[in-house]
Amino acid sequence: MLHVTKSFLPDLNEYIKYLEKIWDTHHLTNDGPYVKELEYKLGEFLEVENFIFVSNGTIALQLAIQALGLKGNVLTTPFSYCATTNALIWEGCKPIFVDIDPVSLTVHSEQIKVAAEMSSISGILTTHVYGNCGDLEKQELISEEMGIPLIYDGAHAFGVKYKGKSIFNYGTVSTCSFHATKVFHTIEGGAVMTNDRNLAEKIRGIRSFGHKNDDYFDIGINGKNSEFHAAMGLVNFEHFSSIQNHRKTSSKLYDSLIKDPIIKYQYNSALDRNYSYYPIILESENQLMQVTNKLNDQQIFPRRYFYPSLNNLPTVSGNACPISEDISKRILCLPLSADITESDILKISSIIMSSL
Ligand SMILES: Cc1ncc(COP(=O)(O)O)c(C=O)c1O
Repeated sequence: MLHVTKSFLPDLNEYIKYLEKIWDTHHLTNDGPYVKELEYKLGEFLEVENFIFVSNGTIALQLAIQALGLKGNVLTTPFSYCATTNALIWEGCKPIFVDIDPVSLTVHSEQIKVAAEMSSISGILTTHVYGNCGDLEKQELISEEMGIPLIYDGAHAFGVKYKGKSIFNYGTVSTCSFHATKVFHTIEGGAVMTNDRNLAEKIRGIRSFGHKNDDYFDIGINGKNSEFHAAMGLVNFEHFSSIQNHRKTSSKLYDSLIKDPIIKYQYNSALDRNYSYYPIILESENQLMQVTNKLNDQQIFPRRYFYPSLNNLPTVSGNACPISEDISKRILCLPLSADITESDILKISSIIMSSL
């Protein structure tokens, strides 16, 4: 059976070494030594001044929204996982959807500007979907000129560089998810990253109930993560580069086998990618269902990431976004993982091409 992804697991002995130390120290959670080590190592690797390890990528978004005090209307993307929209609504904000660019499938900078000028907004929250992005400098400029914060949901973007610089250096705050299905994972986990020291202080505080010992300074939540999760991150980080290389080779093989009429998804040429997903765009939803059924018959399970367009979620009453609505119906992510084989990819591609 082949699923859209398969979580990487290191050799068990590598993890056990860390567990033995946890048993020695009895330090299980609350900013322990492994959490601190992971924060230091990932902060350096991702070139961010403040790296805050949290319990998942959803709480990372909520902490960012809270810390920046976003209220009322917030511009956001309709093409992402539901957590992006839900985090806004959970924090009492109203998502105003900005339609996507039909190539990168990320929000269009010009559209952000138009939407921001039309309604009063307190911030922008958009996603580096599949680890891709639009014109980040232009988006930063819009945020600066309008004096509104810009949050990037970088759940898919671990290790991605834009113009040679870590993608997490752009915007006011970036977040990431380290869920078990991601290119780099800590089983469950996530991060909030910012180069603004005061904001980072605030986020660290509210991650931990808003108090330090007997000093109660804020209304916080429990967004901490444990030593067990941090240990998994420290082990997996050692493997990240070889995982990324394998995913790159696998993606290039798909590239050579998937042909017209299937549209290959295009990445921004200024990116060093992480090969987190392999999306293909079909001509119609019918064709997508046809391909999916043929794959399912062979126990291969791609995923409709991301469907439906978030403005059409049954739980949300969103404004129309024709491009996102159309693409969401026709896009499919193919299996990609740290141990997918050449023969898996040959088989998947051959089923797809012969089913058309
Ligand atoms: C774009 C996006 N944002 C946020 C999240 C939420 O991350 P988590 O599952 O770690 O809460 C995900 C999860 O897959 C995601 O894809």
